[in-house]
Amino acid sequence: DQLKMELQQLLQLLLLLLCVSAEVQHDSFRVIGCSDTDGLDMMTLDGEEVWHADFIHETGVDTLPDFVSHPSFSGLYEQSVGQQQLCKNNLKIIRTGLKDIPDPLDPPTSLLYTANIVELGEKNILVCHVSGFYPAPVNVSWTRNGQKVTEGTSINFPFPNQDNTFTQISRLQFVPQLGDIYSCSVEHLALEEPLTRIWDVEVRVPQPGTGPAVFCGVGLIVGLLGVAVGTFFLIRGRES
Ligand SMILES: *[C@@H]1O[C@H](CO)[C@@H](O)[C@H](O)[C@H]1NC(C)=O
Repeated sequence: DQLKMELQQLLQLLLLLLCVSAEVQHDSFRVIGCSDTDGLDMMTLDGEEVWHADFIHETGVDTLPDFVSHPSFSGLYEQSVGQQQLCKNNLKIIRTGLKDIPDPLDPPTSLLYTANIVELGEKNILVCHVSGFYPAPVNVSWTRNGQKVTEGTSINFPFPNQDNTFTQISRLQFVPQLGDIYSCSVEHLALEEPLTRIWDVEVRVPQPGTGPAVFCGVGLIVGLLGVAVGTFFLIRGRES
């Protein structure tokens, strides 16, 4: 019986291992950083933020969307605070060792696009995707027809990329009206002047589609001809 139980346990373990190895590989990393005035502690999974420490409000922020199950992050913020102390101490030592070599600055690049297909009068979201910059953060400002807009805007926490740069995404909720012009301006330490992208509302009126109809008609005729010829030869073949 002892042997049987052990065998069963072994089998279960093997099955478990098989299941685990059959799973998709995921990519998770955590970034801890600090400066004299700021701190960063963030966990990511497959390129998305999962959790970050908010040192201003002194709490951890679970940023997983509602529809997934949330693991417990209890105690993580407290751990984070300890890590910050360690980081700041290390920073002092490294600075002395490296004789205060300044950090290289990386300027951001930006993209401006809509989240959904543009329909006049239909709610939409403009997305200003800013990436490749160091250090974080950037300041993003929006305009509509040259006027500053703050209502309906939001920006996410700086997302650390694996190459030591950051990504930040700012969004503006808006309703497209013909002729409106929007802009997204990005300020960063490495930029002498703001990086501005312009987006204007233009809706392509779909042309009545003659092309597909003709194509379909010709295709149908050729197809029917093929069937007729095939049938003709089939019958002749039988008769002979
Ligand atoms: C962002 O804006 C704040 C407040 O206006 C300013 O203190 C800071 O220097 C700005 N940061 C950059 C990178 O321009």
